[in-house]
Amino acid sequence: MSDLRFEPVESDEVLLDWQHAHNLIIPTDPLSVEEIRVRAQRNRLAVAYAEDTLVGNYTVRPPADDPTTATVIARVLPEHRRHGHGEQIYQYAVGVAAELGATAVETVVLESNVDGLRFALRHGFTEIDRYVLDGHTTAFVDLRRESLR
Ligand SMILES: CC(C)(COP(=O)(O)OP(=O)(O)OC[C@H]1O[C@@H](n2cnc3c(N)ncnc32)[C@H](O)[C@@H]1OP(=O)(O)O)[C@@H](O)C(=O)NCCC(=O)NCCS
Repeated sequence: MSDLRFEPVESDEVLLDWQHAHNLIIPTDPLSVEEIRVRAQRNRLAVAYAEDTLVGNYTVRPPADDPTTATVIARVLPEHRRHGHGEQIYQYAVGVAAELGATAVETVVLESNVDGLRFALRHGFTEIDRYVLDGHTTAFVDLRRESLR
């Protein structure tokens, strides 16, 4: 049974844990501490712990140009996958998106991340875009779901 504790990125300790999870899971797009501080001002960033063990993190980007849509990305460290943690982090983050007024969600998955693509498709997302950023070799896949749950 997955029972996680969520800590928002407000202290340096939590920020460094968020960075560790992000940069390990998305090695093609590592973020510096300063970049994360900037993102934490406009996005909801949090870390998930099982007791005191770092399990994963999430990013929720609030609705912006499209007032209906938030972006939700759940991440779980490889050694903690397939225990239901991804489900719990995702559901919690969708709750945050709902509080921000979103009625639809989008997510972004690295093309090479088979687990992430499978998770998104199983949760009712549909691919809407696939692109390679300048200087990258692995494509990002954007997916969308028209309802929150
Ligand atoms: C996508 C991701 C968050 C899933 O994390 P996770 O912790 O493995 O997710 P869950 O454990 O909830 O579900 C994964 C699978 O394990 C299964 N599972 C859950 N609990 C289980 C248990 N106790 N025993 C065996 N299997 C279990 C689930 O049924 C699911 O199976 P499926 O792949 O056949 O559908 C993780 O792979 C990840 O971080 N990927 C990179 C980031 C990413 O791409 N995120 C985008 C998604 S929003």
